[in-house]
Amino acid sequence: MKSVQISFFVLVLTIFRVRNSRCDSPLVLDYYKETCPHLEEMVQRIVEIAVLEDPRMAASLLRLHFHDCFVMGCDASVLLDDFENVISEKEAGPNLNSLRGFEVIDEIKYVVEESCPATVSCADIITIAARDSVVLRGGPGWDVLLGRRDSLTASFNGANQFIPAPNSTLDSLIADFQQQGLDTGDLVALSGSHTLGKARCLSFRQRIYDYNSEEKYGYHERDEEYLSALRSLCPRSGRDNTLAPLDLKTPARFDNHYFINIIEGRGLLISDNELVDQGLQWEIRKHVFAYASNQEYFFYSFVNSMIKMGNVNVLTGNKGEIRKNCRFVNSYTI
Ligand code: HEM
Ligand SMILES: *[C@@H]1O[C@H](CO)[C@@H](O)[C@H](O)[C@H]1NC(C)=O
Repeated sequence: MKSVQISFFVLVLTIFRVRNSRCDSPLVLDYYKETCPHLEEMVQRIVEIAVLEDPRMAASLLRLHFHDCFVMGCDASVLLDDFENVISEKEAGPNLNSLRGFEVIDEIKYVVEESCPATVSCADIITIAARDSVVLRGGPGWDVLLGRRDSLTASFNGANQFIPAPNSTLDSLIADFQQQGLDTGDLVALSGSHTLGKARCLSFRQRIYDYNSEEKYGYHERDEEYLSALRSLCPRSGRDNTLAPLDLKTPARFDNHYFINIIEGRGLLISDNELVDQGLQWEIRKHVFAYASNQEYFFYSFVNSMIKMGNVNVLTGNKGEIRKNCRFVNSYTI
């Protein structure tokens, strides 16, 4: 009887905590309901056309949201070009010759400004476009919380400092996510984004020639054919921009194959392989195996972590502004 009482108490507490954590977000579902009721249809239509023309664009728009949120929060700082004393994040190491999708965001912003002038933030547009991209490639859908405002500046140094490098150790990946208020569960679920898109030889060269496997389980050495295929694609020097798919098996589908890949030794980046290669981090590997065997569970966790990432350091109220042109702050364009 007593244990029944206790479980009931725990249940009530859990429900309260789940509800409460949702209410913690300063963002809301129906933010533009009155001011721009057709916003999500407009974004979806343009993302759909962009992905039809260039299938990789789905991956690129998803990554754009990540690189926005990890630098000063999800505030569209990543979209700013160089002007006056702002140094664009676009030129930082993780973004240079790599981050894509800026023209698609410009196009969405142009269309949205026609119907709802000076109303919708660039940061919200990126977030909706990222969700739509996942859905278009067969991934899960979710309701996007809205109400972000756009930053008045960018952080070139922040982009170099806070976006994890492809050769990061697991400890530094964990630290990088923790810095954003994201935990190890978020790290594993969000890394599942590498079910889409491509990486340059430059990003995976160390993984195929110089990945120190000492004190590691050696998962990344399991598929020698994969390794030699990558080596012939990406020599020790040169061909820096040659591309390889992050998910060899189902590169165009948003699914859980990424997790199966890394268990089988087919993770493209060191950061991917680290999720299973580090013997001491059983907690993390447990997530990898769970997602590899249960796609629904991966989708469920991915959605939760995307919502969490989309809340990182958002600007609301009278902070920031609603940019008219996503590439410049309003005081500059006027
Ligand atoms: C865990 C740490 C992460 C590291 C170290 C990392 C690193 C990278 C690197 C190096 C590339 C290839 C860039 C290039 O060579 O041009 C890449 C691509 C990509 N990343 Fe990540 N990433 C991480 C997490 C994430 C997260 C959290 C997301 C999304 C929520 C994401 C989404 C993507 C996508 C979709 C691509 C392919 C982009 C395209 O084809 O245009 N990544 N990532
Ligand atoms: C990652 O790569 C950078 C640039 O090539 C290098 O300076 C750094 O030492 C590498 N880090 C690790 C942990 O291997």
